[in-house]
Amino acid sequence: MSPSISPDEGLEPVELLSVDELRALQLERLHWSVRHAYDNVAHYRRSFEAAGAHPDDVRSLEDLARLPFTTKADLRDNYPFEMFAVPREQVVRVHASSGTTGKPTVVGYTRDDLDMWSTVMARSIRAAGGRPGDILHNAYGYGLFTGGLGAHGGAEKLGCTVVPVSGGMTERQVQLITDFRPSIIMVTPSYMLSIIDELERAGIDPRSTSLRVGIFGAEPWTNQMRRTIEERLDMHAVDIYGLSEVIGPGVAQECVETKDGLHVWEDHFYPEIIDPITGAVLPDGEKGELVFTSLTKQAMPVIRYRTRDLTRLLPGTARRMRRIEKITGRSDDMMILRGVNLFPTQIEELVLNVPELSPHFQCVLTREGNLDELTVRIERAEHATADAAQDAGRHVAGLVKRTIGVTVAVEVTEPGSIERSVGKMRRIVDQRPER
Ligand code: DLL
Repeated sequence: MSPSISPDEGLEPVELLSVDELRALQLERLHWSVRHAYDNVAHYRRSFEAAGAHPDDVRSLEDLARLPFTTKADLRDNYPFEMFAVPREQVVRVHASSGTTGKPTVVGYTRDDLDMWSTVMARSIRAAGGRPGDILHNAYGYGLFTGGLGAHGGAEKLGCTVVPVSGGMTERQVQLITDFRPSIIMVTPSYMLSIIDELERAGIDPRSTSLRVGIFGAEPWTNQMRRTIEERLDMHAVDIYGLSEVIGPGVAQECVETKDGLHVWEDHFYPEIIDPITGAVLPDGEKGELVFTSLTKQAMPVIRYRTRDLTRLLPGTARRMRRIEKITGRSDDMMILRGVNLFPTQIEELVLNVPELSPHFQCVLTREGNLDELTVRIERAEHATADAAQDAGRHVAGLVKRTIGVTVAVEVTEPGSIERSVGKMRRIVDQRPER
């Protein structure tokens, strides 16, 4: 493993606040944010009134639970700019999510919002082990997606030399990594795997590159994937989380020295965990749906935004701010097979342990009569024979049956046959007819 990185110099003062000081700061900011949303966004005024709630009801952080949730549907219904809390002229940037159906969701930023975003992103890169002067290869997509520009702003603010390569053109990624010798790479973990494949194709030992830290996010990935990437690249792999509606990347970040979940930058984003069915707030430590309230955002405050991401809140370790456990699934990705819940990350954990199979796989859902069926399509590893890979496929089907308790089909395919993504990987291919 690469040389260790000194964790403690150059923290922002807010990262050193005691928990009590942090809670006081959050409450003060919460008052402002709730009032700002209510006074300036018609949607919030309506939804508060419909719930019989008012900003004055919020006297403590716990009182936040009195306010109604905000969902992605609310953002869509207010397309494109109705969720903005400032005159449109003060919005200096918009981003948008592609959205699988219908209209995208649009988010906006004032100049101060962009500054806050760069601050939390710079803090994230630092927590990941980045330092001023590092060369940072940014392969998150630039454009309407928040990954590229979000990471970029933070890297510049920290004082890194940014290579704004964006996603795609994998051969060029390899050339730039070889020639510019970056120490940090920011990219989705699935696209990192494609870059590793390309390094090998070019005859370069991935363990010999200058890369020291990879900051991976925008999609779920497992600790097993961390081990695979760290082993194949001889570098640290740390997790970054975020979502456009809350700001983009940089909502929570794992520290390189602990790699034990992601510290939420709670001075700007207040987290809650709720029961996804009843909406009740769950105590720290219990697993449920992550909900965020922005505390300082001007252009588009979000109050109790339901992320659909499933995790739990844990106490701080490397930093005092609370952690979220690595997110291994979102409610949208949950497959239900004969009553058993299953996430693609559970398949990932099993597949990565089988050397005859590559890490490239997809979950194909079909329906026979009334029953949903899952076929896991996995590529053979380049070095494995077809027979050995077929055996390995049967082995994976057995593992899924034994460890998860459902019957799935495993189809082993030839290298290169599974769709690659230069950004977020599509793990589930849903071929079920609409009911
Ligand atoms: O994916 C922002 C981002 C860019 C985060 C680059 C990290 C790095 P959206 O496109 O709005 O924003 O998608 C947000 O992606 O609700 C999660 O379901 C998922 N997601 C993001 N980071 C992680 C992560 C960006 N580290 C949605 N682990 C979120 C698991 C993640 N899921």
